[in-house]
Amino acid sequence: MHHLPPRRGLCSNQNRPHERLYEALQRASSASFEKPISTGCVRTFTRVEELRARHGGPLLLDSGCGDGSGSLRLARACPHALIIGIDKSEHRLRRHELQQNLRLLGNCLLVRADLVDFWRLAAAARWRAAHHYLLYPCPWPKRRHLRRRWHAHPIWPIPALLAERLELRTSWKLYAQEFLLAWEYSKLGKARLERFLPNTEPLSSFERKYVAAGQPLYRCLATSAPRKVASRAVSRAVN
Ligand SMILES: C[S@@+](CC[C@H](N)C(=O)[O-])C[C@H]1O[C@@H](n2cnc3c(N)ncnc32)[C@H](O)[C@@H]1O
Repeated sequence: MHHLPPRRGLCSNQNRPHERLYEALQRASSASFEKPISTGCVRTFTRVEELRARHGGPLLLDSGCGDGSGSLRLARACPHALIIGIDKSEHRLRRHELQQNLRLLGNCLLVRADLVDFWRLAAAARWRAAHHYLLYPCPWPKRRHLRRRWHAHPIWPIPALLAERLELRTSWKLYAQEFLLAWEYSKLGKARLERFLPNTEPLSSFERKYVAAGQPLYRCLATSAPRKVASRAVSRAVN
């Protein structure tokens, strides 16, 4: 799906947090997620794991990295860390000429993979990154698409368990509000929501477009404590 930032904000038939959010979270926490992980993603992940182990330094994740410009900017800002940017779109990653779904550019590893599979493999491998960026995820603004939003997706809370800190940025305030409610519901740790304006260069391509269009931006800054709930959630999502 090509999601372009609209000039005048996003059009949704929802004007408050979805009334079925808690129901979706309850289902995610009690049912296994049955979709098998693709063998292609297992192959890609195995090679990513080798590179990650070889680097051995702090890890930063940029999930849904789009064209990878945010991942590359993070890599320049944090030269001692390994930044892994993941996106399923060949089109968005095309200028990096990935080989077998990967390209290592200095300390930035760009990966073509579906996050629904990649995150489950990372959780099963007990990844614990220092920081997990979710920059402007597809908002799925129609009410009926609630379960496609990451915080109501059947694999929730897997993305929340992969790092000590998670930062969601979005131009849709409701997405951030629901994300915060999901974080609290799942008792993952502390989280806060704030409006913000990048005080330096915009971090990613979408951020640049939103800033240029004068749209308000929001972010959720959250910390997640490693706890028993993590292993239960991982086995439900991976099995
Ligand atoms: C709105 S764009 C934001 C891109 C980038 N983070 C930025 O800020 O410029 C959302 C990105 O999420 C990616 N995406 C959506 N669902 C995904 C999935 N299941 N697995 C991997 N990437 C996904 C899309 O391909 C798209 O590039």
